[in-house]
Amino acid sequence: MCLDVFRTYGAHLVGVEMDDDGMKIDALEQALVANPNTKFIYTIPSFQNPTGRTMPFDRRQKMIEIAKKYDVIILEDDPYGAIRYAGDDVAPIKSIDDDERVIYMSTFSKILAPGLRIGWIVAEKKLVKKFTLMKQSADVHSDNLTQHIIAKFMGEYNIDDHIAKIKAVYREREGVMMDAIETYFPKGVHYSHPEGGLFIWVEVPGDINTQDLFNTCIKNDVAFVPGEPFYADKVIPGTFRLNYSNMTDEKIVTGIQRLGKAIEQTIASQKVDQGA
Ligand SMILES: Cc1ncc(COP(=O)(O)O)c(C=O)c1O
Repeated sequence: MCLDVFRTYGAHLVGVEMDDDGMKIDALEQALVANPNTKFIYTIPSFQNPTGRTMPFDRRQKMIEIAKKYDVIILEDDPYGAIRYAGDDVAPIKSIDDDERVIYMSTFSKILAPGLRIGWIVAEKKLVKKFTLMKQSADVHSDNLTQHIIAKFMGEYNIDDHIAKIKAVYREREGVMMDAIETYFPKGVHYSHPEGGLFIWVEVPGDINTQDLFNTCIKNDVAFVPGEPFYADKVIPGTFRLNYSNMTDEKIVTGIQRLGKAIEQTIASQKVDQGA
């Protein structure tokens, strides 16, 4: 995960609060004021991993303005932007970058096949030259076989047709998961309503211990990705990520039913522990 990569380079990470429209711009500005040595803003503006949230265009414009004001770079990580199955496309931040301030990145792993981990960067030439040098010292160069497979696919097939196919599958599975969540999750549990990408983000209220919830889930033969590792600093407990891209409709419904039961059990046992 990117946060771990940044940490290995000794970065000091500062989390910025989000709402249903992604990073909050006033919170971003406060973080920049409090941390004047900030080097860059890292954002996944479309169908964010892990929340599935998308930043509307006017917020993207404000982010560029703030980046200019505090003279920081924006690292726009966009692996999921092409997988929109509802609503209208929102242009990348890079598309409104008029002073080479945005480094845009994406990958074939989410639009072609998960094992094909070849990506691309759109950035100032000077920076791309540096990245090339640094990548050579990190891994010599990207795997040849994977590059050949992608080149052959791109030469012989239409990637847009393929993306249309996976979008149809994900739209269907997201709908199944959403209906199941509405049916089986206890009242008061908050969850995102993505219009694309692969993820739904769940927030269980009341200071739930995520590890206890996870253990109860495992006993019920279901699992989720705990929210903790996704936070740069301050963690919100009781949060987790669900993924609907890779399961049959039946398994999605069964999994959500088990998850709903596990959430209920964990909330009940916590109430007992607290003597409620
Ligand atoms: C936000 C984000 N960026 C980057 C990646 C990595 O993509 P890849 O390994 O294909 O470059 C992922 C997921 O794997 C991701 O969720």
